[in-house]
This record gives sequence, C-alpha cells and structure tokens, in this order.
Amino acid sequence: MEFDQPVTLAAAVDAAARALRPSSPTARLDAEVLLRHASGLTLADAVAQPRRPLSDAIRAAFTALIERRRQGEPIAYITGRREFWSLDLAVSPATLIPRPETELLVEQALARIPADAPSRIVDLGTGCGAIALAIASERPRARVMATDISEAALAVARANAARLGISNVEFRFGDWFVPLRTERFDVVVSNPPYVVPEDPHLREGDLRFEPCVALVADGPDGLDAIRAIASTARANLVPGGWLLLEHGLDQAPDVHGILARAGYVEIRSYKDLAGHDRTAIARSR
Ligand SMILES: C[S@@+](CC[C@H](N)C(=O)[O-])C[C@H]1O[C@@H](n2cnc3c(N)ncnc32)[C@H](O)[C@@H]1O
Repeated sequence: MEFDQPVTLAAAVDAAARALRPSSPTARLDAEVLLRHASGLTLADAVAQPRRPLSDAIRAAFTALIERRRQGEPIAYITGRREFWSLDLAVSPATLIPRPETELLVEQALARIPADAPSRIVDLGTGCGAIALAIASERPRARVMATDISEAALAVARANAARLGISNVEFRFGDWFVPLRTERFDVVVSNPPYVVPEDPHLREGDLRFEPCVALVADGPDGLDAIRAIASTARANLVPGGWLLLEHGLDQAPDVHGILARAGYVEIRSYKDLAGHDRTAIARSR
C-alpha cells in the first residue's frame, strides 16, 4: 500500500480500504479500526478531523497493520481486543475469538441463575474467559469457576478478570471437570470444540489463525468433547441443575441424543439470531 505525501486520515483510510477490499468483506471498517489502533485516536477524533495529517511513525505502523490484515489475520488478534457481552476483552492467538452467537448461551444461563441468591456456576473451556466473565459480571452473588486445558488461554482470562475488576470468578487448569474434582454446580456451561478435523472451514477466514485445541474435537462427528462433558457433568451437577452447551449448526439432533442417553431431561435447543439451533439445554435429574 502506497500513500501520497503528506497523507491525511481520510486518505489513509481510503487507500487502506482499497488495499483490503479483495481480501476482506469489511474493508473500510477494518481500515478505520486499524487506523485508530495505530494512531491511538478515538472514533470522535477520527470523524472530526479527516484532514489531519498522519505522522511518519503512525503511517508506518498503520501500513504494517494493514499488511497483516491483508494476509487474513483477524482484526481481534491484530488489536488484541474483542467486545463480548459489552465487556472489553483481551484476546490472543492462544484464545478463540468470542463469537456473538455465544451470547445466546450467556443469556440462557442467566435465565437459570438467580440474581438474589448465591449459586455455583462453571464454564468449561473458558478461553479468554468470555462466558465466565459475562455471567460473573451479571450475577455478583454467583461463584463462577472456569477451566481450560490451555495455560496460555487461562493467563489471558485471568488478566481479563483482573482488568475488569470481576472477582467472583476463579480459573483452573485442566481437562474439563478434572480440576474441579467432586465440586457440585447449579449450572454448567460450555462452548467446547465441535469441528471435525477435515472441515474445510478450518482453512478459511479467522479459523486459519485460531488454536486447533479451541476448534477441533475428536470423533467422526466432532462431538467427542460434548460426549465427555455430558457424561461427566451429571456427577458435578446438583439434582435439577442445568447443562448448557453450544454446538455446531447441524449438530442439535445428535447433541440431543447424547444428552438423552446420558440421562438428562427437559432437553431443548435455542436458535441464534441467524435461526440456527445453537445452544442445547438439559436438566439433571
Ligand atoms: C470453542 S473454544 C471456547 C472459548 C470460550 N469459552 C468462548 O466461548 O469464546 C473451546 C475452549 O475449550 C478449551 N479446551 C479444549 N479441550 C479442553 C479440555 N479437554 N478441557 C478443558 N478445556 C478444553 C480450549 O482451549 C478452548 O479455550
């Protein structure tokens, strides 16, 4: 990407949007976000001063960010940030980038967690802490545990909790329930990996950059993580406790079968905003 000299904010965004257009469907927005990231300007500054000139240092930094984006790197990894449930979360290449559809899981979990009484909640495979922190922030009386098999992801999650001042959440390293031993919970939530290794989407878009351990699950149908959680959660749920699982677009019937065979009742799914069954819910007897 080449700039005329001197370059203004508006001209820089125009040039960057042109450079990104072949590789990004959100080229102009990407350019605007990355210019603010490179320059430290607020949205209000950038809108109010389109003819402001860019310094050489900012121009060089912006050019480098645009090149990373041209190579397909997700905006969230370039800026190190993603908003989820109105929380400004740090993310890194060790964490999944939280998706808007996962807010459905949070919404359904909150509907089952009292605001005015203590409760015990666990988020399995917490990544950057998105689900656990959203629930903990909305339910200060809840004690939220969160586990992950990635130490690097847990470091990001712990830092997010500290920066946001959310103190009713505790992170533990390990395989699903293993670090929680015999602790009992009222609600278990998880957005586990559920993509089969040969899924061609893994070679497209943001997924190329996200950690395999966050996306890919064993089994011919990508459901081994859900099987493991469903079978072990029974022992860690109080009677009448809820299990909420995010799953892939076409996996609802199989997930319902897994939950029914594991002995859960009141099994149902909720649709995301695109109309896809996305979150399966079941109750322990
Ligand atoms: C799809 S990501 C979800 C991250 C986050 N909860 C979210 O919704 O944005 C799945 C997470 O599960 C973690 N994970 C994978 N296998 C695990 C296991 N056996 N035990 C605990 N966590 C695991 C991954 O490291 C990853 O952070």
